[in-house]
Amino acid sequence: MSRTPQVLASESPPTAVTGDALVIFAFSRQGTATFSGAPAQIDEAFGGVFATLPGFTGRSGQIVVFPSLGKVAAANVAIVGLGPEEEVSAEVLRRAAADAARRLNEVAEIASVVHQASGDPSAAQATVEGFLLGSYRYTEWKSEAKPSKLQRIVLLGAPEESLRRGVAFAEATMLARDLANEPASSLTPMTFARKAQEVADANGLEYSVMEAPELEQRGFGGLIGVGKGSEEPPVLIKLRYVPEGGAKQKVALVGKGITFDTGGYSIKVPPNMEQMKTDMGGGAAVLGAMSVLGRLRPDVEVNGYIPSAENMISGDALKPGDVIKLYSGKTVEVNNTDAEGRLVLADALKLAVEEGAEAIVDIATLTAHIHIALGWRYSGLFCDDETLTAQLQVAGEVAGEPIWRMPMPDVYLSELDSEVADIKASGQRYGGASHAAVFLKQHVATEIPWAHLDIAGTGRSDKHRSEISRGGTGVGARLLLNWIVGIEG
Ligand code: BES
Ligand code: ZN
Ligand code: ZN
Repeated sequence: MSRTPQVLASESPPTAVTGDALVIFAFSRQGTATFSGAPAQIDEAFGGVFATLPGFTGRSGQIVVFPSLGKVAAANVAIVGLGPEEEVSAEVLRRAAADAARRLNEVAEIASVVHQASGDPSAAQATVEGFLLGSYRYTEWKSEAKPSKLQRIVLLGAPEESLRRGVAFAEATMLARDLANEPASSLTPMTFARKAQEVADANGLEYSVMEAPELEQRGFGGLIGVGKGSEEPPVLIKLRYVPEGGAKQKVALVGKGITFDTGGYSIKVPPNMEQMKTDMGGGAAVLGAMSVLGRLRPDVEVNGYIPSAENMISGDALKPGDVIKLYSGKTVEVNNTDAEGRLVLADALKLAVEEGAEAIVDIATLTAHIHIALGWRYSGLFCDDETLTAQLQVAGEVAGEPIWRMPMPDVYLSELDSEVADIKASGQRYGGASHAAVFLKQHVATEIPWAHLDIAGTGRSDKHRSEISRGGTGVGARLLLNWIVGIEG
């Protein structure tokens, strides 16, 4: 697991702060770089040199690094472009700080002047998130690991509370990334449960797990069916955060925890199978978010459910056309064994309803269709409740994990008509992400506000993109946290 660099606030003047690199942000005003924070003192120290930095306009992505030659206390100065002044937002700051951290990966101590122009308290939080997420590396299995050397980040003129939040949000994301990046033979349903237990013990959460015999006996036919083809038995992991002074609301988070998805007998072609160790990204986001609730102390009871199984092939595996009975009591014709996610989610959603959730959000790498529709930046949101939709859209925007609302109309229920069972697992290709959502909807009592987030396109990335790292992205952890801390009675 990665170790988070230390993050500190300081009121030192930028000229006096020590460290390997002093990071200053700059925005562009009518095409000219304008420095943010307190750079006048720095400019003075350098005798007006900033005005003459060749070609530096402050556009986004631009970074210049130069040695300070003793003119300020830090050894180097890095100037990082934010783009046009009027477009500077928390998202822009997060991205710029991440780009700076990637560029300064040989540096142990960064001091940074927080961009203040927006007057937004989330600026410091986003900056911290950017520095930490941009320095994230998954090096667990490298013989010669080259992790980022960053050990200390000093933020000048930043409120302590924003820094604490930034660290918590980034750590939630990084835990989710570590889990998603772990190879499937190492992260099995059972080891996922053990990790969840460790996280729960270390962070004051309640933990329990339902193992295969109990799942079978209680009728969790989705989890049992999907897990049947594997040597690794399925589990249903449960976590619980209870606020000290009574809860304003009781919510449930449900995360898909398929530790590997071969597709089963509806087997995937190799290029599509290659990355399927990240098919537990939804579960990882739930565990990541819950791991820091004890620090953020929202007045909301949060119940986390991670149905976890391995979708494999064996003489005992589900075959296309098999009929299984879910925990909801509905029978499903498994016409395609690669539509396994909705089967395990439906079981857990039903349990969440039964255990009294007042609002439910599920998160899952559910369909390739959402990737095709929305690409790598936007996760799909399926929700019939306007209040919950608005809450999640804001939470995603603030987190830098935006979502786009997709339709989930009842007319698509006919896509799932089955000749032999109550419902079929999947419909035709066109509109596949919506069909999956409509399937799930059949297992959640309609009076409970419920949202489904499809992160199949955003849960992993083929390359580094500022704060998004290659491999498992940990997407959703920060969105879920923002949603929970924003809930008002
Ligand atoms: N885990 C996959 C979805 C996925 C695809 C996640 C690409 C990440 C990247 C899911 O279980 C799946 O295979 N879904 C099928 C559904 C189909 C059979 C209706 C799909 O997307 O093709
Ligand atoms: Zn699948
Ligand atoms: Zn899957």
